[in-house]
Amino acid sequence: MGRPLDLLLRGGTLVDGTGAPAREADIAVVDGRIAVLPVGAPASAVETLDVTGRVVAPGFIDVHTHSDALATPHGAGATEPIDDLRLAPLLQGVTTEICGNCGTSLFPSLPQRLPELAEHLRVTFGLGPVRPAVDFDAFAAGQDPALRHTHIASLVGHGTLRAGVMGFEARPPRPDELDTMCALLDRALAQGAAGLSTGLIYPPGTYADTEEIVALAGVAARHGKPYVTHLRDEMSQVESALEEALEIAVRSGAPLQISHHKTAGRHAWGATLRTLPRLERARAEGVDVLCDVYPYTAGSTVLHAMLPPWASEGGVGALLERLRRPETRDRIRTDIARGVEGWENTVGNGGWDLISVAAAQTHPEAEGRSIADLAAERGVDPVDQACDLLLAEQGEVTIISHSMREDDVRRVIASPLSMIGSDGVPKPGRPHPRWAGSFARVLGRYSRDEQLLPLESAVHKMTGLPAGRFGLTGRGVVLDGALADLVVLDPASVRDTADFDRPLLAPEGIDTVVVSGRIAARDGRPTSARAGEVVRIR
Ligand code: ZN
Ligand code: CU
Repeated sequence: MGRPLDLLLRGGTLVDGTGAPAREADIAVVDGRIAVLPVGAPASAVETLDVTGRVVAPGFIDVHTHSDALATPHGAGATEPIDDLRLAPLLQGVTTEICGNCGTSLFPSLPQRLPELAEHLRVTFGLGPVRPAVDFDAFAAGQDPALRHTHIASLVGHGTLRAGVMGFEARPPRPDELDTMCALLDRALAQGAAGLSTGLIYPPGTYADTEEIVALAGVAARHGKPYVTHLRDEMSQVESALEEALEIAVRSGAPLQISHHKTAGRHAWGATLRTLPRLERARAEGVDVLCDVYPYTAGSTVLHAMLPPWASEGGVGALLERLRRPETRDRIRTDIARGVEGWENTVGNGGWDLISVAAAQTHPEAEGRSIADLAAERGVDPVDQACDLLLAEQGEVTIISHSMREDDVRRVIASPLSMIGSDGVPKPGRPHPRWAGSFARVLGRYSRDEQLLPLESAVHKMTGLPAGRFGLTGRGVVLDGALADLVVLDPASVRDTADFDRPLLAPEGIDTVVVSGRIAARDGRPTSARAGEVVRIR
């Protein structure tokens, strides 16, 4: 025999990521690659772990994150330690994150638009000053290897692309602007970006019509990469929003990924009984559509997304200027009460009592409390409370919205069309616990405790299925020659512990995490390894 193996995992049960039944196997790692060995095969390794009673699986792929800026150097604006935020994915077994979701990525942009974009992205990411990049290469260079516990791939966010070409104007692009957007997108995809994402409830993405997206998704299609969308409406109009996404997929030829599929707000509760069969039918008709889901009945986003789209026209500065004026606030009140054609209107579908503050840097006392509650305490109207808070935080407020019903969440998790994505929004304060708990929660609560789906299917939704969807070659499966991203877990004890009060608590039962053949977490605690890379998808 030649040189010894780097790592040997002995005596475990292999759940290989393909959805195939679990089986006994020893797993070896050499030069960052996997070899599957017969049980008890003679072999010697630099390090051998006895994983009897444990499951060995491919490292999890989190297909939906907002962690774009988390491992970039932050300037003076970063006021809180963010190490726990950086570690949360690793400690729940995630080895690859896909960021750039919901239309927001750190690139691309025309150089002259970068300062305006930086201001917009500072508000979105909530981590202090951020440095947007002209293209994928510059984004990749901005990821600090000393901070990367996990691998990262990125989609091209349509909102960023649009703002990076034409700013925050609520109008269709001129032909030359659309050409420039297509060219910047094409370049980023050629450099290795994972696909195109939209966030059609967020300014400036919400200003785009179907035609604009069809043109851009066509560029993704030419690269064989998916169109990934936060639908224009996930509440009362979710079904027509889904039709728009399907139309875009059919006309552009791009594979379609519905982000964090949900039917939220009382008017849409139960609608997954129709949306999931609709997706099945589209697949039967030849549309390559899949979706992702996080295992919670609450969502999380920015507070200004609760306002009608006109309020944000022109960018953050213009928004804050408007919010000072009483007549603007009256118009917001009216629009929320009556609704606006084509606008999701979360508050109108629920109420300010279901919206709680997740992050407000200069008002931490507001974190964890509802807007209705904060308003009542001050004796003001909730719209004024929301506007005052936005002004106090210069637009940078993150909220949690309790808007979904458990049966819908369960139906999407159980669907063969879904994969798992945390939709983690890693910000200081009280972020949504999904960033630290989604994967362990699916494995523990939904697979083991509630028997909603077998372990092999749950793991497949976290590994092989997303790897295939996003072209992550050599990842997401345990087979000879695959890249050595692995997780060792205890199927009897794995469970999430993060909740809305302690949102970053690490899960139980995730023992060992291997990233690029190196042990990055051991006994549930991080090692000094920083083996995460920027993944380029060709
Ligand atoms: Zn989203
Ligand atoms: Cu998202």
